[in-house]
Amino acid sequence: MARTKVDEPELTGLEAPVLGPTGRPRTEFPEPKPLKAHGPARIISLCNQKGGVGKTTTTISLGAALAEYGRRVLAIDFDPQGALSAGLGVATHDTLTIYDLLLGTVKDAHQVIRPTSTPGLDVIPANIDLSAAEVHLVNEVAREQILSRVLRNVAQEYDVILVDCQPSLGLLTVNALTASHGVLIPLECEYFALRGVALLIETIDKVRDRLNPAIMLDGIVATMYDSRTLHAREVLQRVVDQFGDNVLESVISRTVKFPDASVAAAPITQFAPEHPAAKAYQQLARELIHRGAIA
Ligand SMILES: Nc1ncnc2c1ncn2[C@@H]1O[C@H](COP(=O)(O)OP(=O)(O)OP(=O)(O)O)[C@@H](O)[C@H]1O
Ligand SMILES: [Mg+2]
Repeated sequence: MARTKVDEPELTGLEAPVLGPTGRPRTEFPEPKPLKAHGPARIISLCNQKGGVGKTTTTISLGAALAEYGRRVLAIDFDPQGALSAGLGVATHDTLTIYDLLLGTVKDAHQVIRPTSTPGLDVIPANIDLSAAEVHLVNEVAREQILSRVLRNVAQEYDVILVDCQPSLGLLTVNALTASHGVLIPLECEYFALRGVALLIETIDKVRDRLNPAIMLDGIVATMYDSRTLHAREVLQRVVDQFGDNVLESVISRTVKFPDASVAAAPITQFAPEHPAAKAYQQLARELIHRGAIA
């Protein structure tokens, strides 16, 4: 059948802007300019006491994307499960870890930092030893400030330090928040995901009040979004209604490429650089630079 004129979109010059998944006009964040000098780092904790929401995946993928934009990135595995170290292909047995630094048996963080296969992205690994840290540190003087002290002598060399927290609001997470300038909350687009966020924000407020007046919420990043389901769209809409501009425009879709990349122990930007999932984390990196959360 011949196309009739009615099929053609009318071009009035006043077309509605293309909306992103958050319901705001979709923005192309500009390619960041290369940095002329490096450091001191802005320290950002990736935090959510709910398990399996994409904290580790975001730390790896965002870290790699930032490194590809020429930023010097240090990722800290702050979870005894060691998923960040494994995801970056760094062995965790018979090696120095963040635990040695927290306990003070190793004084210089440089001895513990390991390179990854992504140039510009380094990691401080963790293993199951870290699960004993909360018990060992509980009687320390200024026990909430130990990570902050550990990072002091390396912060000058990096542009950003990303701390991958464990799914709890215990002493380790409080240490991460006390050391941080900002918090990034990965939030799974699933109904029950919303329930813990108020408690997390309350914890951040308490840390700001008592330990770290400078800490700010850098943003909430929606993860595991499936645009085909009404459920995910409704959850994202509720998150935007509740948290407004704190919700970042970059949204990470659900895709099996992430578990595949974990098996390959490579960041998504290396494992599948052309996949929309890699592009989404590059967009997140550009958005955070654009917002000033990262230099
Ligand atoms: N956007 C996504 N789409 C599909 N799968 C994902 C996505 N992001 C992460 N995953 C997968 O979901 C699982 C949990 O992700 P991840 O380990 O990043 O969460 P986490 O919040 O760090 O979990 P934990 O609380 O246990 O530390 C992993 O198997 C990961 O590969
Ligand atoms: Mg994790």
